[in-house]
Amino acid sequence: MPVSKSSLITLKKIDEKFVLHLFSKSIELKKNFNEHRLSSGPYHSGYKGTAALLFFEPSTRTRFSFEAASSRAGYHPMILDGGIGTSIEKGETIEDTISNIQALRPSFFVIRCQDHVNLEQIDSLIDVPIINAGWGKRGHPTQALLDGLTIHEKLGSIAAKNILFVGDIKHSRVVASHRELSEVLKYNMGFCAPREFLPEVISTGIQCFSNLPEALEWADVVIALRVQKERHENENLFLIEDYRENFGLNNERLKLAKPNAVIMHPGPINYGVEIESEILQDPRCVILKQVENGAFLREALIRSIVDKEKGD
Ligand code: CP
Repeated sequence: MPVSKSSLITLKKIDEKFVLHLFSKSIELKKNFNEHRLSSGPYHSGYKGTAALLFFEPSTRTRFSFEAASSRAGYHPMILDGGIGTSIEKGETIEDTISNIQALRPSFFVIRCQDHVNLEQIDSLIDVPIINAGWGKRGHPTQALLDGLTIHEKLGSIAAKNILFVGDIKHSRVVASHRELSEVLKYNMGFCAPREFLPEVISTGIQCFSNLPEALEWADVVIALRVQKERHENENLFLIEDYRENFGLNNERLKLAKPNAVIMHPGPINYGVEIESEILQDPRCVILKQVENGAFLREALIRSIVDKEKGD
């Protein structure tokens, strides 16, 4: 196994310098890409290898942006999308699927999987980098990084900013990764949710609001979260109407947010629950910018940990 293999399973040990390098590299890649669209000729230098993109849970944004990022970085994507049509349907385990795909010598893996899969153990058995593309409720590091990039681009820096999460915080892997990233980039986290959607233990330093107007006044950034029914043990946790009334974001509510607040959502969105579609027209809303930035952030990550391109 190469000594220098570096995977991205969590953000616990990531350092600030590396994250800021990813942000500046992503911005540079976006500029180059947009300039290239106006010209002709190949975008990259050619084929470098293959990327094994294995999605054992549903995905649109993450899967397509890793596909775009891999291609732009010179890696041909090999995609497993949900296991349908593969030998998983015949009972092959995820672990065995991964070791068989490793025999095809991809340059790196991108894996989305359920909580019960031991991604850290798989990483210890694989000799190329693994990137976590969403691991049950445990974490979604590239989503937190692309959120960080989008905030960095809009506000100049994320350090010391107040980032408010509204919604199903307890079941959110995005929040789990933001908890790790906030330690590195030194931003403040706030939670606003019904009691059922708050974790049992909330770290000191996280602001908790039961009242949305008060939370919106505090926030520099508002990240709405989807109600993740597929992860709820009790299916009748609350009435959607009550949730929408107390925690849903709409144009009227967002009048209480700061004039330069940044409004985000990792997607997919349940319109009429956590967000009304009218807020997409609000100039402070950067939801599609997050998706656009995701592909550049992931390309920067691939170039850094697979190609080992160095920062300044
Ligand atoms: N944000 C996100 O992970 O979206 P997908 O589930 O569509 O990949």
